[in-house]
Amino acid sequence: MPTIEFDDVTKRYGPETVALDEISLTIEEGEFVILLGPSGAGKSTMLRVLNGLTAPTEGDVHIGDDPVSDNHSEVGMVFQEHHLIEGKTAFGNALTGALSRNGLLRSLFGIHDHEDKVTALNALETVGLLRESGQRAESMSGGQKQRVGIARALVQEPQLLLADEPVASLDPKAARDVMRYLKKAADEQELTTVTSLHQVNIAREFGDRFVGIRDGEVIFDGDENDLTMETMEAIYYADSDERTPDAGATDVVDPTSETETETGTTTGDADAVSPTTAADGGDGV
Ligand SMILES: Nc1ncnc2c1ncn2[C@@H]1O[C@H](COP(=O)(O)OP(=O)(O)OP(=O)(O)O)[C@@H](O)[C@H]1O
Ligand SMILES: [Mg+2]
Repeated sequence: MPTIEFDDVTKRYGPETVALDEISLTIEEGEFVILLGPSGAGKSTMLRVLNGLTAPTEGDVHIGDDPVSDNHSEVGMVFQEHHLIEGKTAFGNALTGALSRNGLLRSLFGIHDHEDKVTALNALETVGLLRESGQRAESMSGGQKQRVGIARALVQEPQLLLADEPVASLDPKAARDVMRYLKKAADEQELTTVTSLHQVNIAREFGDRFVGIRDGEVIFDGDENDLTMETMEAIYYADSDERTPDAGATDVVDPTSETETETGTTTGDADAVSPTTAADGGDGV
């Protein structure tokens, strides 16, 4: 499993928008990284740059020794809106993950060998849906559909698993279930995983490492213990009127600084941050 390297990556959209601003970041193999940040911060752009859907304007992204564009099929993606084929069964949908590995002709005719089918069933078992493998996607709940989306990404046998807001449209219980299965899949297959998430309280339960992005810059990089209330304020509320008076005044939060831990609040407090409010109540980015 390779290391991911962002080397001074800038992504501009037109003359005005800097979606990513000189991002340098290393993600070690097997890490489960959660991207946090207000709406428009650049989270999706980071994921799109990683799966080759968007090319950086400047800088390089490497997966192992290879530039990202050469790796496309080795990156599995879980989408917010799952993009399942509604008329197909869970099994049929999971199996489509094998298409990117197979040749064009086999893909066109939907030809799958025995091995692909076993891989699909294993993936459905990983996400707890083996018994539902014959059920059509259209009759599944949102959480189940998202788990099929994870299974499909696993069937791709990726080296890197990406998920963009995978639980955004789910209720808190279904969201936790989906995150639990995503984490289980990543652990079982030792996959390097990068996911964006708006639900901070759920993020805390599952992430090994958290990267806070704001205005295209990484302003926080640390683990759960570093993710204090002050840090959350800096990520979501900086420059906003809703920021509390004694919130972190600096743009970059250094998780190793002593002040940070001294002023840090408990996990419970940080959980109280509503990411929805944070995103909506930001500074209008
Ligand atoms: N295809 C595009 N064309 C022009 N601007 C874009 C495009 N994609 C993203 N942007 C801009 O880049 C910035 C970062 O957007 P991005 O979608 O990465 O944010 P995000 O952190 O994923 O936000 P959200 O939490 O709302 O999904 C925003 O200002 C956005 O308007
Ligand atoms: Mg996004």
